[in-house]
Amino acid sequence: MKIQNLLFLLFISITQCQTIIDKLSKDERFSTLLSHLDSTGLIPLVNNLTSGTLFAPDNDAFTKFEGEVDKKVLMYHFVNKGMTMDMFHHGQLKESLLVLPGYLGPDHEAQRFKVSNNDKGWSVNQARVVDEDIKVDNHTYIQVIDRVMTLPSLLGDSTKTNNEIVYDLMATTEIIHLLQKKKPFTLFLTNLKTPLEKYNAIESTYLQSEYGKQDLSTFFKYSIIDKVIYMDEFTSGKTTFKSLSGDSLVIASTKKSMTVNDIPIVQSDILAANGIIHLIDETFHPNSIEFNARKYMYGANSTYMVEYMDQYHLDQYLDQTENNYTFLVPPNDAINKTLLSKAWLSYHIIKDAWPQQNLNDNMLLDSQYQSYALDQHYQKIPVSVEHEVSIYSGHSIQFGHARVIGDEVSVGNDIIYQISEPLSLPGDILEKLVLDLDFSTFIATLYVSQVVQEIKATQGLTLFVPTNDAFQKLGLVTKYLVHPTAKAQLQTVLRYHAAANSLLYYNDMKNITMETLANETLVIKQNESGTVTVGDSATVTASDLLVSNGVVHKLSQVLIPSQLVITNQNLLVGIESNTMLQILERVGLLDVINQENIVVLAPSDKAFSRINLDDLFLDAVQMERIAKLHIIPREWQDRWIAQNPSHDKSEYPTLLSDDDKVTIRENEKGELWIDVKNGGENDRAHVTGLGRVSAGGGVLAIDTVLLPIRRGLFGLPWIWSLVVILTLVIIIGGILSIVGFFGYKIYNRRRLGYRPIF
Ligand SMILES: *[C@@H]1O[C@H](CO)[C@@H](O)[C@H](O)[C@H]1NC(C)=O
Ligand SMILES: *[C@@H]1O[C@H](CO)[C@@H](O)[C@H](O)[C@H]1NC(C)=O
Ligand SMILES: *[C@@H]1O[C@H](CO)[C@@H](O)[C@H](O)[C@H]1NC(C)=O
Ligand SMILES: *[C@@H]1O[C@H](CO)[C@@H](O)[C@H](O)[C@H]1NC(C)=O
Ligand SMILES: *[C@@H]1O[C@H](CO)[C@@H](O)[C@H](O)[C@H]1NC(C)=O
Ligand SMILES: *[C@@H]1O[C@H](CO)[C@@H](O)[C@H](O)[C@H]1NC(C)=O
Ligand SMILES: *[C@@H]1O[C@H](CO)[C@@H](O)[C@H](O)[C@H]1NC(C)=O
Ligand SMILES: *[C@@H]1O[C@H](CO)[C@@H](O)[C@H](O)[C@H]1NC(C)=O
Repeated sequence: MKIQNLLFLLFISITQCQTIIDKLSKDERFSTLLSHLDSTGLIPLVNNLTSGTLFAPDNDAFTKFEGEVDKKVLMYHFVNKGMTMDMFHHGQLKESLLVLPGYLGPDHEAQRFKVSNNDKGWSVNQARVVDEDIKVDNHTYIQVIDRVMTLPSLLGDSTKTNNEIVYDLMATTEIIHLLQKKKPFTLFLTNLKTPLEKYNAIESTYLQSEYGKQDLSTFFKYSIIDKVIYMDEFTSGKTTFKSLSGDSLVIASTKKSMTVNDIPIVQSDILAANGIIHLIDETFHPNSIEFNARKYMYGANSTYMVEYMDQYHLDQYLDQTENNYTFLVPPNDAINKTLLSKAWLSYHIIKDAWPQQNLNDNMLLDSQYQSYALDQHYQKIPVSVEHEVSIYSGHSIQFGHARVIGDEVSVGNDIIYQISEPLSLPGDILEKLVLDLDFSTFIATLYVSQVVQEIKATQGLTLFVPTNDAFQKLGLVTKYLVHPTAKAQLQTVLRYHAAANSLLYYNDMKNITMETLANETLVIKQNESGTVTVGDSATVTASDLLVSNGVVHKLSQVLIPSQLVITNQNLLVGIESNTMLQILERVGLLDVINQENIVVLAPSDKAFSRINLDDLFLDAVQMERIAKLHIIPREWQDRWIAQNPSHDKSEYPTLLSDDDKVTIRENEKGELWIDVKNGGENDRAHVTGLGRVSAGGGVLAIDTVLLPIRRGLFGLPWIWSLVVILTLVIIIGGILSIVGFFGYKIYNRRRLGYRPIF
């Protein structure tokens, strides 16, 4: 103890006025305290107090104390008013003489400590009052405590002590620095270990991600008010405060409880150097944090999708709230960056919100990919919904080939589906068509006719593709169409299956007409059971194959436009039945076969090679007869065999004569055979192909030249003629014999001189 101080003490005792210092110095328990007061130079200040209470740690308390004892710590133990313990109340916050300027704001400058009372008696902060009410004078008391009171720590540190998980989360934001500032705050702190429990997994992932820092700050700012509100001093009733996030916090106090925004405060008034903490055992869910598609995609870990959408200026979809969209988001690692394009990205955004329950199998949804090749329409996304009959109830949904993972997520009015893999944009039409072997004939005809470029370049294409079977059914007509001479006709046929700037999906094909590329209209109907009929009888057997420039449907028949006239002559050219054509021309029947309802039996050139053509060409009569035997003046039959089961063949008169008929029969293999009625064994031909023509007739290609029966008298076949002649010869011979016999008798009588009796 310095000499001046001793002198001063002496002076004080002489003046009879007892001071705290006097009191302390007379008590052995406080020697450490006294020496600290002395070494920090606080003795004059203490002596100058006219009233006050000192919470005096005894020597043991200082021994236990680990921190540094400085002026501030000591000042924290003084109250500027003399108070006996019964003047305190439990839970009271008492202002000490310690002022940390600015820390608690202008309203509450002095640092406080908390008084509590329980079975063991009074305590201040963590220190127990072990000896009460040592009177110095009427305005000055000493209360002995067993510990040195440590100064309240800053709010940030205090948060760490109270909830380390919240602290760690705060530490990822700037909030933690804010709470360490020498400025006053009130913090409503949850004591739950799950501070984000009111957020779903996606939101919580987002908030904890680097993208969610701003919102996480807002989340914490919601629980902070920038002044100190001691619940201890809070009068009952409601008061509304504005939190740092700008939201309102309503603190309500009744005798029984205190709440903040209706959440009970379970522990109030945890002191901090720069404010106060009140504990709640719930968490907040600030409305000021609004989620949108962007944040949800971040939360769903689909950060690449967001990054790329920003990069390709599609960010307005992520941040807007005006329109509703459905987003399809593949996981980051499934994205192949080489496929990245604005088109591809916008193909993952669907117009309108489509929750699962509104999705149906085979549905087509409008993506936001507005395609030049589709005539500025939006490319569609095919949906398939499979209802699974299994213990895993529910259904599996696919967009294109991508499977939906988990359930839909809705955010605002938008919906997000996480999908297993990215979608692929509908590809080039030919690359798509070749995948279906059923289209191979069609593809071949496209190349033969050179319409292929036109089809590829058509914008907003609707294309009906007849199957191989459909071409097969056309028989000789197909052969004709692919013949080099019929290129223009083939082009017309193909163009008749396509329309430009007219996207017709299955759902559009209700009852409409389609203006085709052949400049002829197609009528399309859909009956109640959903079958689509195109033209007269062709049906759509598979629909909505999407391609980059339109949509393709599978068709059961080839459509022949009415403007396209196919004649029998055309078919003969198509099957290269050149000899037959030559003969028809030589005998002047070419015009006849192009008339209505004429069916031509067309022997192949090979069949003609088996007869002597040189002789035939010299025999005009026979040539004409052969030609006419091959022409049936009859309309085309769908079945050439009579339906009557007692007949396995039907007869048809030919142009040669009504008597020169051909019979057509069918063997067990379903092959057609043609005979000349009553003809010889060689006159039997196998039908190798059929083809109907526009004029109602058609061509039956055959493998043998039919030969007409040689006619004798009366137009009968020559054998019969022979029989008739022989018969006649015999009859005439007979008559002549009888006449001769009688004549001879008469002559004989005359010669012998007989006279007639009469
Ligand atoms: C003692 O208190 C008086 C008035 O309260 C003040 O003017 C004076 O400066 C004080 N002296 C010391 C040493 O604190
Ligand atoms: C101190 O208080 C007592 C009792 O309350 C009173 O009798 C006495 O006069 C007071 N002394 C002074 C100096 O105020
Ligand atoms: C996103 O990633 C985080 C960390 O890898 C993980 O905890 C979280 O479950 C993921 N969220 C989703 C929706 O996959
Ligand atoms: C978006 O969805 C909401 C809620 O379903 C609806 O009220 C609103 O009309 C929709 N907006 C648009 C542009 O479709
Ligand atoms: C990405 O796509 C390109 C082009 O289709 C392909 O060559 C490449 O192998 C793909 N990369 C991966 C990782 O799948
Ligand atoms: C189809 O359209 C035609 C003409 O537009 C109309 O007469 C007919 O009733 C319609 N049929 C159906 C089934 O809607
Ligand atoms: C169809 O008509 C348009 C305009 O009238 C014409 O340019 C086009 O060449 C025609 N197409 C065919 C295949 O005739
Ligand atoms: C619709 O057309 C298909 C094929 O022509 C036919 O099988 C079906 O019975 C039709 N349905 C109705 C309701 O007419």
